[in-house]
Amino acid sequence: MRSLENRQFRLKSRPVGMVKRSDFEFTTEPVGEPGPGEVLLRVLYLSLDPAMRGWMNEGRSYIAPVALGEVMRAGGIGRVMASNDPSFAVGDLVNTMTGVQDYVIANVKSLTRVDEKLAPLPRYLGALGITGFSAYFGLLDVGQPRPGESVVVSGAAGAVGAIAGQIAKLQGCRVVGIAGGPEKCRYLVEELGFDAAIDYKNEDVRAALKEHCPTGINVYFDNVGGEILDMVLAQLARKARIVICGAISQYNSTEGVQGPKN
Ligand SMILES: NC(=O)c1ccc[n+]([C@@H]2O[C@H](COP(=O)([O-])OP(=O)(O)OC[C@H]3O[C@@H](n4cnc5c(N)ncnc54)[C@H](OP(=O)(O)O)[C@@H]3O)[C@@H](O)[C@H]2O)c1
Repeated sequence: MRSLENRQFRLKSRPVGMVKRSDFEFTTEPVGEPGPGEVLLRVLYLSLDPAMRGWMNEGRSYIAPVALGEVMRAGGIGRVMASNDPSFAVGDLVNTMTGVQDYVIANVKSLTRVDEKLAPLPRYLGALGITGFSAYFGLLDVGQPRPGESVVVSGAAGAVGAIAGQIAKLQGCRVVGIAGGPEKCRYLVEELGFDAAIDYKNEDVRAALKEHCPTGINVYFDNVGGEILDMVLAQLARKARIVICGAISQYNSTEGVQGPKN
């Protein structure tokens, strides 16, 4: 294994506003050997998630920030190249935090086995991974949608939103997605089966919400926060539920996070 080279992206500086190429350093190092209870993985797929922006910031959060100089954290799918534990064999496929690099030595306790006969490997980073779990449990456990209710999803054409909206449809709800641009809105209605879509970049969101949810919004699955959250809050039905899944509109803010204003 020592002849293999591991290409890596390390966090070099804490980004201010949008992430820049110069916030990362490209490094290479030789691939090491797994110790007891460890495996060496070849990284096959990486998930590039909005959460990564938060991990780059200093400060208290649900998970420690990525340290400066550390390989950038990312979820991924890897194949076992060498194993120093009886529970995993060479060739096994797993889901874990691989980092943005070609190879990683991982503790077997951090691994979840995946099976490419059951689903294409990238699916384990999407619908069958944390993305799918966030949509499923967020919508069903927190949102508790009932048939006939109006469900609004922001960031609806994104990874989580697209799944949350489709689950809401399966629950018999009337589902309205909010997304940026006509192509994403067409995708929501024509391909994913949403009842309506609002193009927040080109439409009056307040008026469109009123038109599509005339008796109020029963469940709001929020991925974006900020101004859109405020507009939805003003049009909730009584006993509405709000799922705060994320607030992507705020992640690059240099002026603090905008909370609800009303
Ligand atoms: N992926 C996960 O496993 C996971 C887990 C827990 C929570 N979350 C949270 O869920 C949210 C969505 O994540 P995702 O993985 O679905 O992301 P994604 O697939 O990358 O989609 C994010 C979408 O958000 C929209 N967006 C970006 N900036 C915006 C702004 N200023 N205002 C309104 N919309 C904006 C963009 O779509 P438009 O082109 O439509 O603007 C973008 O494509 C994030 O807040 C994330 O932190 C994700």
